[in-house]
Amino acid sequence: MKITVVGAGHVGATTAQRLVDKELANEVVLIDVLEGIPQGKALDMYEATPVEKTDTRVVGTNTYDATADSEIVIITAGIARKPGMSRDDLMNTNSGIVKSCTESAVAKSPQSIIIVVSNPLDVMSYVALKVSGFERHRVIGMAGILDAARLRTFIAAELDVSVEDVNAFVLGGHGDSMVPLPRYSTVAGIPITELLSQATVDRLVKRTRDGGIEIVNYLKTGSAYYAPSSSAVLMAESIVKDKKRILPCAAYLQGEYGLHETYVGVPVKLGRKGIDEIIQIKLNPEEQVALNKSANAVKELIAKVKI
Ligand code: 2OP
Repeated sequence: MKITVVGAGHVGATTAQRLVDKELANEVVLIDVLEGIPQGKALDMYEATPVEKTDTRVVGTNTYDATADSEIVIITAGIARKPGMSRDDLMNTNSGIVKSCTESAVAKSPQSIIIVVSNPLDVMSYVALKVSGFERHRVIGMAGILDAARLRTFIAAELDVSVEDVNAFVLGGHGDSMVPLPRYSTVAGIPITELLSQATVDRLVKRTRDGGIEIVNYLKTGSAYYAPSSSAVLMAESIVKDKKRILPCAAYLQGEYGLHETYVGVPVKLGRKGIDEIIQIKLNPEEQVALNKSANAVKELIAKVKI
């Protein structure tokens, strides 16, 4: 098993580190255009493996030769937000970056599964799908796990319970119109709507929607990377181990949920071939309207993106 991480910034490097620490591959390749950065970070990580007791080789590079025959390619390259910016403001710059990374990566790893992390997530997943020419089950965006993890954290803190007992569902695009689903968010199986007042649920949902910018406003020079990298690695783990986890991910819809030709966050079953199945859960009319609105916001961006 060989996994390539494209982009050696905070998200990419932390993703590589988590892959290595969990020994999810025999080899992790970290690639970036900046000379010396992927080499230095990869060597540093490799030198931690005797202490961490993991036998994963870590390679840093500026050229795609070393990435050849990767089973999974995780694309994190691109610029991050600064305060006052929405994820959508990154589109023009990041679409060019994701396009060229995808072209180079798939030329060397034509059988790979691509996990996209770069923002604006849903549109960048679309760019990777179109540029790679891969089937849709092999190009998956990371977002719902992150958004759900934020909601889970806030619910657990509010109720003073273990995060392990909290599940949450967040559908839709990874943007301001994302669709947290309180009805499907539970603590030990009990819907949070039975445990928290409507006002509290609304407050936690709003904080989840604003979760990315809350961190950007603290960091000022960039965006979150610990929770995003954990989320990308959870997807990789389900693929590597063929676990068939049901996880909210950005998938290219062709009729599911009544939506067509767009990426949007939905529950999927992830296994060794990528997306095994798009799970269709029952939405009430209000939830479906919110999902449609979110998908339309993604579609508007897709219409503008230059590939
Ligand atoms: C976030 O939500 C960076 O989009 C990422 O933090």
